[in-house]
Amino acid sequence: MPRKPWIAILAAALALLSACGPPDQDEAAIGGPFTLTSHEGERVSEADFAGDYKLIYFGYTYCPDVCPMELAKMSRALEILADRQVKLDRVQPLFITVDPARDTVEQVAGYVSLFHPKMVGLTGSQAEIDAVTDAYRIYSRKAEDPGAADYLVDHSSLILLMGPDGGYIDFFSASDSAEDIANAVDQRIG
Ligand code: NI
Repeated sequence: MPRKPWIAILAAALALLSACGPPDQDEAAIGGPFTLTSHEGERVSEADFAGDYKLIYFGYTYCPDVCPMELAKMSRALEILADRQVKLDRVQPLFITVDPARDTVEQVAGYVSLFHPKMVGLTGSQAEIDAVTDAYRIYSRKAEDPGAADYLVDHSSLILLMGPDGGYIDFFSASDSAEDIANAVDQRIG
């Protein structure tokens, strides 16, 4: 039995839709403006980091395992770049908390100092953190019993590489090494 034309048209339309995807899943749309408070207590926005390549990790200081591992990896990538004589003045590592209730300026300051001298930690109001996690497509949710002092936060664990213009370039997950990150940044900076 021959295919009816409307079925072909519908199939073509569906194929087109799935090929394009909804605009909010466009990788180019990851990122955007933010205003937060640095670990030095200064109000900062994305404009303060314009011109730099940014390695951004979203997490929280009370995270027992994943965050410290990924931030150590990010720091190691910077050390690899420094070993290769790559100037780090155009690379800005950022840690943005997903747990602003506990991650005060002081808490974040102590935390980033454990990793890399260039690392800037950012916190803010819950609304500011919600806005930045939405913009960067970062999932986070308090685990069971959010009233407990030692609650966990489930969150995306990705190191994002953003360009000097703030545009999204790439991401790195647990399966990527510090060398992978260093290579990607090195390639960009040249
Ligand atoms: Ni974590």
